[in-house]
Amino acid sequence: MKIFIDTANIESIKEINSWGILDGVTTNPSLIAKEGIDLRTCVKRISEIVDGPISAEAISMDAEGMVREGRELAEIHDNINVKLPMCVDALKATKILSNEGIEVNMTLIFSPHQALLAAKAGAAFVSPFVGRLDDIGHYGANLLTEIMAIFNNYGYDTEVIAASIRHPVHVFEAAAVGCDIATIPYDVLKKMVSHPKTDEGIERFLADHKRSTKK
Ligand code: G3P
Repeated sequence: MKIFIDTANIESIKEINSWGILDGVTTNPSLIAKEGIDLRTCVKRISEIVDGPISAEAISMDAEGMVREGRELAEIHDNINVKLPMCVDALKATKILSNEGIEVNMTLIFSPHQALLAAKAGAAFVSPFVGRLDDIGHYGANLLTEIMAIFNNYGYDTEVIAASIRHPVHVFEAAAVGCDIATIPYDVLKKMVSHPKTDEGIERFLADHKRSTKK
């Protein structure tokens, strides 16, 4: 499974990239706003750090505007794909952009039907939001299973990005059903590394080593 980081924070991206496990980056208008940086500058800087897909979200709500924004964003760097929020205009824009070779990441996916339509329109990625479904009392991971079953049944090339990841169990759930990608916040990536038994083991090995070299 490919691992993307879900952030617009340059320092976090640099750090996770240095771990040697990073395959791409997703941003959204909320993450960009948090950094107090404009979208173009932000994705340009990310493209200088990470060699992999980078999602930049359009804010137009009509197909014409989405296509215009999509073309402008794609010009910044070859690795940039255009995130569009699921709606009829986004489907129309996806068809046009994908025919031009511009990749679309259809975001705010909350049902398998939405994912199916996005794949048919030519989206390169779909982003089902696991955590936000959990928030309203659903079991978000079910959506990943349903989308994977549909895409496997018909051999769609569209890659599934498990998004709105809130904790390491979400990452495990995404990997268990074969999602192509999980886009993971910085703090969840940090949590994935640690285990109390690992820390305890390191401490014991170091203590034993110290004792044995004293003799
Ligand atoms: O980037 C989209 C998604 O991952 C947002 O996550 O935590 O705001 O639901 P969250």
